[in-house]
Amino acid sequence: MNALVLAGGLGTRLRPLTENLPKPMALVANRPWLEHLIVQLKKQGIRHLVIAVKHYPEIIQNYFGNGEKWGVTIRYAIEKSLLGTAGAIKNAEPFLDERFIVLNADIVHELELAPLLAFHNQHGGGVTIGLTEVDDPSHYGVVEQDEQGRILRFVEKPRPEEAPSRLINAGIYVMEKQMLQYIPAGREVSIERETFPLLIEKGAGIYGKVISGYWMDMGTKERYRRIHWDLLNRVYPLPLLGQQNEKGIWIGKNCEIQPGVMFVPPVLIGDNVKIGERSVIGPYCVIGNDCVIGKQVRCTETIMWDRCLAHNGVVLNNCIFGYGLEIGSKHILHEAVMSRVEVLQA
Ligand code: GDD
Ligand code: MG
Repeated sequence: MNALVLAGGLGTRLRPLTENLPKPMALVANRPWLEHLIVQLKKQGIRHLVIAVKHYPEIIQNYFGNGEKWGVTIRYAIEKSLLGTAGAIKNAEPFLDERFIVLNADIVHELELAPLLAFHNQHGGGVTIGLTEVDDPSHYGVVEQDEQGRILRFVEKPRPEEAPSRLINAGIYVMEKQMLQYIPAGREVSIERETFPLLIEKGAGIYGKVISGYWMDMGTKERYRRIHWDLLNRVYPLPLLGQQNEKGIWIGKNCEIQPGVMFVPPVLIGDNVKIGERSVIGPYCVIGNDCVIGKQVRCTETIMWDRCLAHNGVVLNNCIFGYGLEIGSKHILHEAVMSRVEVLQA
């Protein structure tokens, strides 16, 4: 059984961070999210992956190559035009096993496949959809189920008053290859708006199983930030790279921290970071690898990707900076989300 990762969306709600970058390559705790996902899949026993790509495919291909470095094999199903979530699965058909897993690449979660697979085996349906419960289901695909877990209705992004439940599609499916006969080839098809409703109508055995553990879609800036605060608070227990020197202060390798620097937990500092005298970092800061922060910088609730440069006296609050951004001295930035063109290196 292999896994197909849907990584071709445009990531419009995360712009400008995704202007030149596929959304799943956005850093989460100083590593591309897709890398965390691949590591998690491997731990769950999935060694053969297919990644469906469209938006800047070469960035993903150059970073992961054939997957060898991560102990997995990776093949790429490249779309010439955007095919939608089901169209992307159909396009990957030649690479897929008789039974396979599909994952939305922008879902940040504690992946646990065994209960989902056991449920799928037990019911023998065409698709088992991983479900999770949220307060406001209107941004997601919402399901109505019977007592056996069979899905009776799937409504994508309903108006709040029309949502049949608070159980939503978590973006993880176990699927039988024969279901692909219901997806037309060569055009854009949405699995949520077209294929799931069709499969329900055909009685193809579409089931839902609630998954446990942390779950969040990283697709908006608010949720992208939230994932980081949850990581720092350890609500989301993904292992953090770096040594925890004091409670809530993780510092990477080879950092140069000048005298008088104060860390206000929680903070995560990457490798090779330099911080100048009397800067105050935190609470809630994630500083990427190779960042350089000048003297007397004040940084709160901010996520900085690798290679950023903040000059002396800069004040940053609630910002997100993409790769290699330079912030001139004495700038005061509040809620800025900025990025620049830079090629991502593995
Ligand atoms: N290859 C490929 N081609 N991938 C695509 C395409 C495409 O044309 N369109 C979207 N994707 C990928 C995105 O990159 C993302 O990883 C995933 O499919 C889902 O797309 P989003 O654009 O993030 O959808 P969403 O978050 O609004 O809704 C989806 O996810 C929710 C869970 O977070 C739906 O599946 C909802 O039903 C679900 O509840
Ligand atoms: Mg999404």
